Amino acid sequence: MHSFTAKAPARANIIGEHTDYAPNGGHVLPTPLPFYTTVTAQEIAGPSGRIIASSKNFGDEPHERSIDDPARGHWTDYVVGCVRAAAKLSKPPALEISIKSEVPIGCGISSSAALCVATVRALNGLMGLRLSDAQIALMAHEAEHDYVGVPCGKMDQFVSSLGNPGQVLLLNTRTLAHRRYPLAEGTAIMLVDCGKKHDLAKGSGYKQRVAECTEARDRLGVGTLSELGYGDLDRLSALPELIARRARHVITENQRVLEFVAALEKGDVEKQADLLAASHASLRDDFEVSIPEIDALVDSSKRFGIRGARIVGGGFGGAIIALMPRDQAMGWWTFVSRENPNGRLISTYALSAGENVYAA
Ligand code: GLA
Repeated sequence: MHSFTAKAPARANIIGEHTDYAPNGGHVLPTPLPFYTTVTAQEIAGPSGRIIASSKNFGDEPHERSIDDPARGHWTDYVVGCVRAAAKLSKPPALEISIKSEVPIGCGISSSAALCVATVRALNGLMGLRLSDAQIALMAHEAEHDYVGVPCGKMDQFVSSLGNPGQVLLLNTRTLAHRRYPLAEGTAIMLVDCGKKHDLAKGSGYKQRVAECTEARDRLGVGTLSELGYGDLDRLSALPELIARRARHVITENQRVLEFVAALEKGDVEKQADLLAASHASLRDDFEVSIPEIDALVDSSKRFGIRGARIVGGGFGGAIIALMPRDQAMGWWTFVSRENPNGRLISTYALSAGENVYAA
């Protein structure tokens, strides 16, 4: 019986948070992280549509599922969603799907996209589907968005499928046009988990933000909020105060992504730090997706002298990301961890070298 093994990485988003779902259609700038989920898809005896899924991270217990099952709020839904998406192209055999992941769950570095992209990659190989990397990303998104029911954007699946280690991926989430850029030589990406988990599939906050952005878009009569720029901000005074703040975050964050790319091209690290700090303030005050534990980590980083720090991912928990010269990274972590004993370093990643210099 055939089998095929594939892996896919987690991601950190440098800037462009909550700009990627449908009503917003903005830019994002994520990078893959050197943490992988590995999936083996094996053909087994039985009818098409039978799925036995197991994960080393969940005790290796086999779960029997069917492609016709409704989603049931279990991690195996992600696997079923991927097989359903593949089944639209070709009839799948009965499958055993075995998973092993190094990606920490609930920290805002997209364990779910790593799982879905690795699963679709494995199915692509096993079933001979000949999918492009963009098609793999779209099928992984379909599994999470349409079947699992998370109203997420396409950022995570695209960077997991198309990103290159050591580079950032500028993605226009409306047109799906993308381009890769290197970060400055010697930049360390530091991620610190605050200790409070987030769960997009179950959390209502993320869904509420999508609904609020949809309301802003509809009231403003635009196709996506990212069609608007700084010059349009006075139009927001026509909206209810809370909806206006949500829209202001999306519009300004989308501009910050483009400004960040311009600063990257110029090698202007001060400007990059300013933009990350402004992104955090906007996510905290206008979009209200931060929590006190996350703000405390960002404030510690500033006290150490690194302004370029912000909440990363969907929010309501999870981690911060901070960019800094590599030679300051360990001093920074010593300082930040002393002030935040519950913080946990996820990785230090020297993008210029594309290598993991430290992983805890
Ligand atoms: C989660 C979602 C992404 C994106 C981020 C916030 O990671 O899966 O699509 O919306 O939150 O930027």
